[in-house]
Amino acid sequence: MKILVIGKGGREHALAWKLNQSPLVDKVYVAPGNPGTAAFGINVDIKDSDIKTLADFAEKEKIDLTVVGPETTLALGAADEFEARGLKIFGPRKDVARLESSKDFAKHIMNKYNVPTGAYETFTDFENAKAYVLKHGAPIVIKEDGLKAGKGVTVAMKIEEAVEALEIAFAIPDNKVVIEEYLDGFEFSLIALAHEDKVIPLEVGQDHKRVFDGDKGPNTGGMGVYSPVRRVTKEIIDASVNEIIRPTLEGLKKEGLPFTGFIFAGIMDTKEGVKTIEFNARFGDPEAEAILPRMESDLVQLILDIMNGKETEVKWSEKTTVGVVLASEGYPASSTSNAEIEIEDGMESILFHMGTKEENGKLYTNGGRVLIVVAEGDTLAEAKEKAYNDIEKIKCEKLFFRHDIGAKDVV
Ligand code: AMP
Ligand code: GLY
Repeated sequence: MKILVIGKGGREHALAWKLNQSPLVDKVYVAPGNPGTAAFGINVDIKDSDIKTLADFAEKEKIDLTVVGPETTLALGAADEFEARGLKIFGPRKDVARLESSKDFAKHIMNKYNVPTGAYETFTDFENAKAYVLKHGAPIVIKEDGLKAGKGVTVAMKIEEAVEALEIAFAIPDNKVVIEEYLDGFEFSLIALAHEDKVIPLEVGQDHKRVFDGDKGPNTGGMGVYSPVRRVTKEIIDASVNEIIRPTLEGLKKEGLPFTGFIFAGIMDTKEGVKTIEFNARFGDPEAEAILPRMESDLVQLILDIMNGKETEVKWSEKTTVGVVLASEGYPASSTSNAEIEIEDGMESILFHMGTKEENGKLYTNGGRVLIVVAEGDTLAEAKEKAYNDIEKIKCEKLFFRHDIGAKDVV
């Protein structure tokens, strides 16, 4: 088979790397890919937003299966375009991808189909939004509608922070804001392969969203991850699949919006049971980089199975993975580029590229999140030690990382 992966980050590197291991696969193309994917795949110089050219390429090369990484590609209608041309694509159509691209839509589906989530209200003007915040008090959560790369959310512990977030949000014309009840509990990410009402759940990972050690500083796309998460027992996963993922997929199907692709639920395990924080219509990044190396099953076969309506069991390695992100100075507010990266020999971990570029045989930073070092161990402590030892082998003056990835794994 010929496979096309759309995207250029660490998630797409991990997806392409895993798909490439399938005995069913002859060639993996990645558009546009990165220096990491070039090591085993064929990078194709087409932007992940250029839907028509991507579909032209898939037609011309007779690609058997396309897997979409980024939410923006889905929100632009990649699946609609590919399907209209009879091309097989694993990712939801534009209307369905609203599950991620519109928080308001996601909340509407959850409420209509009794999917547990925090109470909320949607606002289009500052005064009413502020009145709601004053009435309900803090802590409270302010979420801008639309795709914000994980940055449009303020978890306000004080009223003043909430009001300030509303001021910023409503400074943007025609903005919509969801104000949500604060959920207290243990957060984890559950990703599943889905097609209509069929589900193949994967093992869970835990992201570290805040930029600094001890969960300090602003939210980011994710600074590190580990998998599995021992606190998230089989009962919690089963409850998440049965109370959150299945009813959401069934609801979407009833609405005439059947989902195909990776569905990602950000879940809070609270005193009252599991509650949905958010949905994404794609694999998580950095979750993919820690979860896929633990998967022993053939990912291509799993995708074909689910697209044929078959709920297959997934085989997993008993090992624990820890992934530590190296980000550019200033991230998430800004990011520097063009800092040279040197990597010493002898690294035991897998290195996925998130935002790098290669020029004249040298590697440079090229974005906010740059690399992720993913180590495997018999225990979390062993994986952690390996990951942090290997980080020492990456020489670059403009990178920083969190030192406490996995520290929350207390059972
Ligand atoms: P989101 O982009 O919706 O995932 O939000 C980013 C982060 O904010 C989440 O990963 C949570 O850590 C936090 N968050 C979002 N919604 C809530 C909520 N209702 N209660 C507590 N924390 C939340
Ligand atoms: N790591 C969270 C996300 O991919 O949105």
